[in-house]
Amino acid sequence: MTTIGTPLSPHATKVMLLGSGELGKEVLIALQRLGVETIAVDRYDHAPGQQVAHHARTITMSDPQQLKALIEAERPLLVVPEIEAIATPMLEQLEAAGTVRVVPTARAARLTMDREGIRRLAAETLGLPTSPYQFCDSLAELQAAIDAGIGFPCVVKPVMSSSGKGQSKIDGPVDVQKAWDYAMAGGRVSHGRVIVEGFIDFDYEITQLTVRARGAEGQIETHFCEPIGHIQVSGDYVESWQPHAMQPAALEKSRQIAKAVTDNLGMGHDGQPGGLGLFGVELFVKGGQVWFSEVSPRPHDTGLVTLTTQVQSEFELHARAILGLPVNTALRTPGASAVIYGGVEAQGIVFDGVDDALRVPNTDIRLFGKPESFTKRRMGVALAFDADVEVARLNAKLAASRVKPRIA
Ligand SMILES: Nc1ncnc2c1ncn2[C@@H]1O[C@H](COP(=O)(O)OP(=O)(O)OP(=O)(O)O)[C@@H](O)[C@H]1O
Ligand SMILES: [Mg+2]
Repeated sequence: MTTIGTPLSPHATKVMLLGSGELGKEVLIALQRLGVETIAVDRYDHAPGQQVAHHARTITMSDPQQLKALIEAERPLLVVPEIEAIATPMLEQLEAAGTVRVVPTARAARLTMDREGIRRLAAETLGLPTSPYQFCDSLAELQAAIDAGIGFPCVVKPVMSSSGKGQSKIDGPVDVQKAWDYAMAGGRVSHGRVIVEGFIDFDYEITQLTVRARGAEGQIETHFCEPIGHIQVSGDYVESWQPHAMQPAALEKSRQIAKAVTDNLGMGHDGQPGGLGLFGVELFVKGGQVWFSEVSPRPHDTGLVTLTTQVQSEFELHARAILGLPVNTALRTPGASAVIYGGVEAQGIVFDGVDDALRVPNTDIRLFGKPESFTKRRMGVALAFDADVEVARLNAKLAASRVKPRIA
């Protein structure tokens, strides 16, 4: 049974988000609507989610002692990681000691914290199809891995990075040194390790949102959303749409892979399948062939489209699932999302043309409220729905293009 208390009272149901960007902000709003008391944690003040939560805390989440002190002081029912760069071994300790429950599990947060844990789990433990890969700690090792079989083209990524940072494609021998240097400069925590992957010449890629939620008898059930298609530029998502039409065989394989990986990540340190929540499983598809790429044990950026397409957005699904509530993954309408980039480098920017953007039929926008803009920083998203997904894509892009960020 799920019981929810009154926020800001001794019986409040408290949830702490570790990372309070645009995705965390929507999870926090969903939790607020269910009467949950929310604590938004980030590494800088006035992060998007901190603007909508009951409490805002700013710490270095990769510092185990700061993380421990905050969790012990706040004593939330649940800790919800929203980013990868967290002191996850400390979360495992706190979970094992019964201090807190981590969503979906502390083990999943650790395994997905860098590319190595999840890739080895998927390919070596679960035997799922992935691109060929090697981990390398030096330029010489990278060169050797390419020579020994990865070949060209291939993709080099820092083991710890997201949104395409430090990632590049290598087409031939002259690019190897450049890709190594770029990875060293772009990794989030510079421990000098990269993954090199054989390039998969896919027809398209999807995000398979997958939810582990409690059924009426308390059992954990797996639910699937309609596949989300997306386009990435330099490893960063620029548009997404739902549903993405798929051959039945490819869809079935996608869901089998998603089930296998989420079943495993849903298993706690005790070996019990207690992990609840939504996952974004990234897959490459070519004809009937499907490759696992990576997984987020939390809402996925390409899933922002579900704010307009689903009965319950991916954020509402996550909020409900983690509280033990039932979920509904039904599609409401086809639709699309298009990213609004900062375009300028400044603090406290303004956005012109929001009215013009919203004159595009059946659109909506989210401006995330980030205090500082960078040229390639995601500052907002345009959403559009239409019975025809292609019309929705055009309208989302049109609306996004009408929002003009500028220095105030
Ligand atoms: N082996 C590969 N073959 C072909 N394309 C690839 C490969 N690896 C990555 N890509 C492309 O680069 C994109 C980003 O890669 P990946 O998801 O591994 O990086 P990321 O930095 O974790 O991105 P994000 O955090 O935005 O999900 C993929 O969605 C895909 O378009
Ligand atoms: Mg990715």
